Amino acid sequence: MMDITIQPKFSYYNLFASFFRNSVQINSTDYLFNSGRSSLFTLLNHEHKSIKRVLLPELICDDVTDIINRLNIPIVYYPIDDRLDPNIDFISDNIINDHSILIVPNYFGSASNWDDILKLKNHYSITIVEDNAHSLFGRYNNQEFGTIGDISFNSLRKILPTLGGSVLKFNNEQPQGIKISKRLPNIDEIKISLSSLKPRYFRNYNPMVNAIGNSLSSIDFIDIFSNYIYNKTCKEMICNIRRENYKFWHHYLKNIDIEPIKLRDPICPYVYPCYVKNSIDIDRFVQWGKMNNISIINWPKLPNDVNLHQSKLSKIICFPVNHLYKLNQIKTLNELH
Ligand SMILES: Cc1ncc(COP(=O)(O)O)c(C=O)c1O
Repeated sequence: MMDITIQPKFSYYNLFASFFRNSVQINSTDYLFNSGRSSLFTLLNHEHKSIKRVLLPELICDDVTDIINRLNIPIVYYPIDDRLDPNIDFISDNIINDHSILIVPNYFGSASNWDDILKLKNHYSITIVEDNAHSLFGRYNNQEFGTIGDISFNSLRKILPTLGGSVLKFNNEQPQGIKISKRLPNIDEIKISLSSLKPRYFRNYNPMVNAIGNSLSSIDFIDIFSNYIYNKTCKEMICNIRRENYKFWHHYLKNIDIEPIKLRDPICPYVYPCYVKNSIDIDRFVQWGKMNNISIINWPKLPNDVNLHQSKLSKIICFPVNHLYKLNQIKTLNELH
């Protein structure tokens, strides 16, 4: 039975199929790491001496704060609204001129309100990091994602069937002293890759979750498999199927008591995100997903020092739009009330 996951799973079939595709042009100034976390660590470490504060949205997963805490940089969380746009007044009041990094995610494949965010640069000297962990191939007013902030990074495995990978870009001055390299997959990545072949031992291999966690929490360069898949990505096909799958959920959930998050027309959506009313509803949708072999998740796992219990932002669930499946070809789904 197929299992429709949020992130496309690595498979050797996809790796070999990519031999027959044309390569895309990778920019020579891109730095490739194993995860968004590694890119973030590298960029913060590079700017470290001058940073006194990181401004981070309160809607963020704890993997991100772990990295900032590792470097002992104080975090100030800024509020965002229901459309996931940053509160610009709060940010202005909390910038330490010359010494702040502002991290702005393009959530779920959709652009943030960059016009307002970039205006901050007219008044303050601040480094803006565009967090594209959810976003590959997007645009804002004809400007490609990754080129809007002063620095940007993404997370390839969220959109592509890679083992990991993240592109770190410096859009102004190029940094000195950051090494570029590639490596063979490590032991955890090999385990993950073998699980796709479903040999007996790996089929029910419980520590797989640990293997994924281990491979992402180490700071490292990209592995050659992921680099290869990224080089051979077929952007149009991926974006088209993801948008079709996004429309599928829009249509399917039309008469269900759920509030889709209004995104700015995503070119390559990461998921179909919705607000639900309470934690009972979260469970209800997650269980319905399990019955139908569809991963539906509550995102994010918030950092301990963020309290959003009273906010809609803690009740986001995500439906998969993974392009390895065409959702409108699903024959039967249990009824959803
Ligand atoms: C908004 C955001 N930024 C950064 C990251 C870190 O990316 P990665 O999992 O590739 O380390 C995540 C992880 O889910 C994320 O959701």
